[in-house]
Amino acid sequence: MIKKGGTYVVMGLLNTDSIAYATGKLIEEQGGKVIYTAQNERLKKIFFDRGCTDLSQEEKDVLDIRYCDVTIEEEVRTLFAEIGELNGIVHSIGFANPKTCLGDNIYTDAVEDIKQGFHISCASLATVAQFAQEHMHKGGSVVTLSFASQVAFPFYNWMGVNKAALEALVRALAREYGREHVRVNAVSAGPLATKAAKSIPHFAHLARVWKKMSPLPWDVINDKKEVAHAVVFLLGEGSKKITGQTLYVDGGASIVGGELLPRERPIKSMPAKRKAAAKERLERMRELKKSHE
Ligand SMILES: NC(=O)c1ccc[n+]([C@@H]2O[C@H](COP(=O)([O-])OP(=O)(O)OC[C@H]3O[C@@H](n4cnc5c(N)ncnc54)[C@H](O)[C@@H]3O)[C@@H](O)[C@H]2O)c1
Repeated sequence: MIKKGGTYVVMGLLNTDSIAYATGKLIEEQGGKVIYTAQNERLKKIFFDRGCTDLSQEEKDVLDIRYCDVTIEEEVRTLFAEIGELNGIVHSIGFANPKTCLGDNIYTDAVEDIKQGFHISCASLATVAQFAQEHMHKGGSVVTLSFASQVAFPFYNWMGVNKAALEALVRALAREYGREHVRVNAVSAGPLATKAAKSIPHFAHLARVWKKMSPLPWDVINDKKEVAHAVVFLLGEGSKKITGQTLYVDGGASIVGGELLPRERPIKSMPAKRKAAAKERLERMRELKKSHE
């Protein structure tokens, strides 16, 4: 659980589809104070102009949104100096030029784009942790967002490399800041419909593949809140001795070898259908046992 009245900085707000928004909302529901960051003043304005049309004026009025480009060290330093004492941070930030770093092939000529992707999606976590930990005197928790870096998916290319590096950085930072009682972890989420995801070429392919790999039903729209629950768990008291870990919140897709067999695919609806499937499995096992006698 979140510390009631504690301050949490949630970085990476673009619109109300962002994982950052789902996470911030849950922190507030549990009694935490949330300070969001958008990348810059322009994107903060876009958030209010067209990124939160589903919110009431009252909901908009209470949002505390600052801006911070994580590649500019001075902006990160100033952000945390202005906020002061805090309990946790969510680093929900990623970018790689879709034309050069994602797509059909692993292109090697756009070195500046590759560097930029690494800086934003991976190295920035170290900058954020460095300036934030000075303001977590009683200890705290830093959580970042990753995606399936243990395997190679088509089209994800340099971003997959960045995510693998991000998870390695999580371990290094956990080691570095443990003495100050600051924990650092990642949540590796399944595919979710957000602006960042839509810039991944053939994102629909990824979502389709998930249906064939995930033992639990996976919903690219609504499971953001399940991801947020895991982030909040890692921010809170219930995970006090967990650090340097990557927690998979992906419906189980990461533990499946190949594709699920058609009969293994999740039954989304109706308890009756699930009951029938359980009965069918029992019968199959009974038949098998009989054939062995
Ligand atoms: N959507 C998915 O399928 C999925 C799955 C697993 C992990 N993730 C990860 O979750 C995180 C959040 O992405 P999202 O899906 O909510 O999309 P999103 O587009 O809503 O959020 C990405 C955020 O990164 C910010 N950003 C980019 N460059 C920045 C910079 N230089 N400084 C500060 N902010 C910058 C963007 O402004 C945006 O707010 C990313 O790290 C993403 O890789 C997403």
